[in-house]
Amino acid sequence: MDIISAHDLVVGYGRTEILRGLDFAVPEGRITAVVGVSGSGKSTLLKTLAGLLPPLSGGFDFAGRPVNYRSEASLRLLFEQIGVLYQGGALLNSLSLFENVALPIRMQHPKMPEDMVRDMVFASLAQVELAGSADKYPAHLSGGMTKRGALARALVLDPDVVFCDEPSSGLDPITSALLDDLLIRLKETFGMTLVVVTHEIRSIERVADRVLLINDGGLRFSGDYADLAAADDAFIRTFFLRKDSHDDA
Ligand SMILES: Nc1ncnc2c1ncn2[C@@H]1O[C@H](COP(=O)(O)OP(=O)(O)O)[C@@H](O)[C@H]1O
Ligand SMILES: [Mg+2]
Repeated sequence: MDIISAHDLVVGYGRTEILRGLDFAVPEGRITAVVGVSGSGKSTLLKTLAGLLPPLSGGFDFAGRPVNYRSEASLRLLFEQIGVLYQGGALLNSLSLFENVALPIRMQHPKMPEDMVRDMVFASLAQVELAGSADKYPAHLSGGMTKRGALARALVLDPDVVFCDEPSSGLDPITSALLDDLLIRLKETFGMTLVVVTHEIRSIERVADRVLLINDGGLRFSGDYADLAAADDAFIRTFFLRKDSHDDA
C-alpha cells in the first residue's frame, strides 16, 4: 500500500512555485530517497507533506485519505503519524539529550505522567543506541550521536512515517554509513516508512528502495531504485557517471 500519494501537486511559497506537477507514491514500509541538487526544493516538498506548508495547487493523500490543509483534524493526523528529522537536525543546547527527546511529548501531551514520558524517551533512545547518554548535553555529543539524538526525537511519538532531511550531512563517511544502517534497521525491524532526503550517491545505493529524483522544478524520475540505473535518460546517466568517477578515484 502507498502511505502517501501526490496528484498534480505544486509546492512553493506565496506566488513562487518551486516544484510543479508532482505525481508520485511513497510505499509503506520502504525507504524512499528524495534526490536533487541543492536548492531544488527537497525540503520544501517535505514541509508540504509534513503538514507545515500548504500546497499551491493539487494535493496528496495520506494513509488513503486526502489531506485537507483547512482541517485541523487532517493536519493533526499528519503531525501524529509523521516524525521529522529536520535539516541540520539541531538539538537544543540548553537541554539534556533526555529533555530534547522528551520535547515532542511535552508539547503534544503536556499532562502525561513523568514515568510514561521516561519510558517513551528511553524506548526511543534505545532504538538509536543512545540510552546510555540520556543525561549528556549536546555539546558533549559527537556529530553522529547528535544526528541519532535528533532521530530519537523524531521517533518518540511512535510515528508510522519518518522524514529525514539530509541526515548524514556533515558526517564522515563511516558515521554516515552507520546512520544509513540505522535507517535500514528501523525499516526492517519496525516496518517503518522512511522518506530520506540525500544527495549522497553512496547513501542512495545503500538505503533506497524507491527514488524521487527532482530536477528543474519537477520530478525527473519516480520509481524503484533498480529501475533508475536502467533508465534511458541522459540526466540520470550523468548522475550515475558521477558515482563511477568517484569509484575510480
Ligand atoms: N521560506 C521560504 N520562502 C521563500 N523561498 C524559500 C523559502 N525556503 C526556501 N525557499 C526557496 O525555495 C527553493 C528550494 O529550497 P529548498 O526546498 O530548501 O531546497 P533543497 O532542500 O532542495 O536544498 C530555493 O530557491 C529556496 O531559496
Ligand atoms: Mg533542503
